[in-house]
Parts: sequence; structure tokens; C-alpha cells
Amino acid sequence: MKILVTGGTGYIGSHTVVELQNQGHQVEILDNLFNSKITVLDKINQITGQTPVFHQVDLLDYQKMRELFASTHFDAVIHFAGLKAVAESIEQPLRYYENNVTGTLNLLKCMAEFKVNRIIFSSSATVYGNINSGKLDESMTTGVDITNPYGETKHVIEKILESEATSRPELSVVILRYFNPVGAHISGLLGEDPNGIPNNLMPVVMRVAEGKIKELQIYGDDYNTPDGTCIRDYIHVVDLAKGHLAALKATDTPGAKVYNLGSGKGSSVLEIIKAFEDASGKPLPHHISDRRPGDLAEIFADPSKAKRELDWQTELTVADAMRDTINFLNNQK
Ligand code: NAD
Ligand code: UFG
Repeated sequence: MKILVTGGTGYIGSHTVVELQNQGHQVEILDNLFNSKITVLDKINQITGQTPVFHQVDLLDYQKMRELFASTHFDAVIHFAGLKAVAESIEQPLRYYENNVTGTLNLLKCMAEFKVNRIIFSSSATVYGNINSGKLDESMTTGVDITNPYGETKHVIEKILESEATSRPELSVVILRYFNPVGAHISGLLGEDPNGIPNNLMPVVMRVAEGKIKELQIYGDDYNTPDGTCIRDYIHVVDLAKGHLAALKATDTPGAKVYNLGSGKGSSVLEIIKAFEDASGKPLPHHISDRRPGDLAEIFADPSKAKRELDWQTELTVADAMRDTINFLNNQK
């Protein structure tokens, strides 16, 4: 297929482009490079032997979007582009709604006008909100008690996509709810390299390992979990990328479908630190601090629907993710 990947130079997008190209798909990337670097294209070439066509276009630039869709027919769109920093979304809600929601509306308008009938969307476990904890499955209520505008944009976009699939019966929508992506490409060439101050656990762990941050703060060790720290479902980014190939097959039938992409297994913050230390052979400085508002004690996926319907499941472990993260870090030096 000829596939447009929005956000394709970003962390998850770039790993997905590699898997798509390895399977023989023709990939074109749209990205405004707000949170990624153009050098990623060269890294993709080093891994796959091909450089994807690149369009430096902002989703909010509707005219340029139309020109792109008018000039090339795409069989499918995989839509990663968006802003994703939870704390920043609380400070700048309008920017988040505009970028993520208006950006997606522009994309869907172009898809309708130019008859592009398949879309896969990057949603998040955050749509389950604060009422759900423990094992989460797709039948659970979403959209209640979401604690930040970033999460709200994901919920709103899910609803927009479902409405669009109802109004355009030829459209196929696959919504993928990611759990916590970690790790890097085994080559050490691609990995998470966010601009600015990181919030998520692994980017902070990486900065601590590099000596750029003195110590990791563990946000609370008094949760009702075996070691007192929060439990999340960490999924290797290459497994996640492969989930998009499986989802592409599901776009053969129209309508809207939703799948969790997670491993089904939870790891605590202390277990992640231990796994990182085992992989690096060095201690990772850390201390316990207060709880972070809005964090739930335990979240992990029920991934059985993706296994059943997409024939997809994770193959890599947290230990693999730590090994690949360290390899990526060493490669950056
Ligand atoms: P990322 O920031 O590395 O990649 C997103 C890409 O989108 C970046 O390259 C950025 O420059 C681009 N972009 C943003 N706004 C744009 C716009 N208006 N026009 C064009 N390009 C734009 O993020 P990621 O971790 O790869 O996440 C990809 C998607 O997955 C996002 O939608 C994110 O919300 C979602 N997601 C991520 C996580 C996570 O923990 N990483 C978890 C759940 C869901
Ligand atoms: N944590 C720390 N110290 C840090 C950073 C994180 O202890 O410096 C802890 C958090 O308290 C939490 C765990 O590490 O227990 C994971 O935190 P992240 O911020 O990495 O991830 P979250 O589970 O909070 O949220 C992430 C993304 C969301 C996405 C969600 C899906 O930020 O966008 O996963 O479950 F929606």
C-alpha cells in the first residue's frame, strides 16, 4: 500500500515506518518536525535501505494538506502526529485542542475529499480515565474523569473518528490504545529523543543515566501495590510498531474498531529501575518523592482482543527494551 504516516519522524512513527518499509509498503511521512529531527530519515534509510518521501507540513495548514492529498493518492493514513506532554497540556489547553483535534479534522476532511478510506489512530490508555484501574479492556467506559486536556483530545478524536465512520460507510477506522511505549530499535539508530524537559519515566531514566539529571524521583512508594510504587504496562516500541501492521489488515473491512496495544503484564517503577540497572551494570541514582497528582496505582492492558482479532501480541520483554535503550544511548555519544 501507499501509506501516509503523520508524525512519522517521531518516536513511535519512525519505528512503524521501518516495519512498514520492511514489509514492502511505500511510505510517505508528513511531519512539522516540532518534536523530531530530519536526521531520522537517514537512520530509517540505514536500517531499511530506503528513505521515505518526506513532507514538512503542519496538520493545521489546511491548504498545504489539500495540496498533498491532491498530488498523491494514499491507500491509508497512520496518524501519529500530535502533542503529547500531559503537564504542558494543562498549561496550554487551547494549543493542545487546536493541534490535536483541529489537526485531525483537517486530515479527515482531506481524506473524505480525496477518497482515502483507511485510517489508524494513535490513542492512549489515558481515555479509560481515573475511574478505571487494574486490567483495562476495550468494553470499559471511556471519557470519564480524564485528568488532563491531552487525554481529552484523545477521547474527543476517538469520538470524531467513530462519527466519521458512521457517516462514511466506506471508511475503515482502527483506534489503537497504547499503553506505555519504551525501548528503541535494536540497531541503536532510532529511539526516544524528546525535545525539552521529559516527563515520562523512561526519558527521565535516560537523562539520569547520561548524567543530565542528578536523580530519578520516584513519585510515591505508598501505593497499594507489592512494592508500593505504581504499576504500568510497558510495551517495547518495536512490538507496538508491529501492531500497526496487524491493524492495517483490519482496515480491509469498513467501520470503526478499537484495540488495546499492551503486553498484559505490569511492572512497577522499582522493577523498571532494577531492569535498567541490570542491563547497564550501573546503579541508577533515585529517591522517593511525593505522589504525582493524577497517577493511578496500577494500569495494565487486557490485550486479548488484539490477539484474537489482529493475531498480534508482544514478543519482546522489558529486559529487551532496557538493553535496546542503553544501546541507543551509547550510540548517541
Ligand atoms: P512524538 O512527539 O515523538 O511524535 C509525534 C510527531 O508528530 C512529532 O514528530 C511531531 O513533530 C509531530 N507533530 C506534532 N504536531 C504536528 C502537527 N500539527 N503537524 C505535523 N506534525 C506534527 O510522539 P510519539 O511518542 O511518537 O507519539 C506518537 C503518537 O502516539 C501521539 O499521537 C501520542 O499522543 C500517541 N501516544 C504516545 C504515547 C507515549 O507514551 N509515547 C502513549 C500513548 C499515545
Ligand atoms: N514516574 C516516576 N518518576 C518520573 C516519571 C514517572 O516515578 O520521573 C512514574 C509515574 O508516577 C508512573 C510511571 O512512572 O507511575 C509511568 O509514568 P509515565 O509518565 O511514564 O507514564 P503514565 O503512565 O503516567 O502515562 C503515559 C503517557 C500518557 C499515556 C499513558 C498511557 O504519558 O500519554 O502512558 O497509559 F496516555
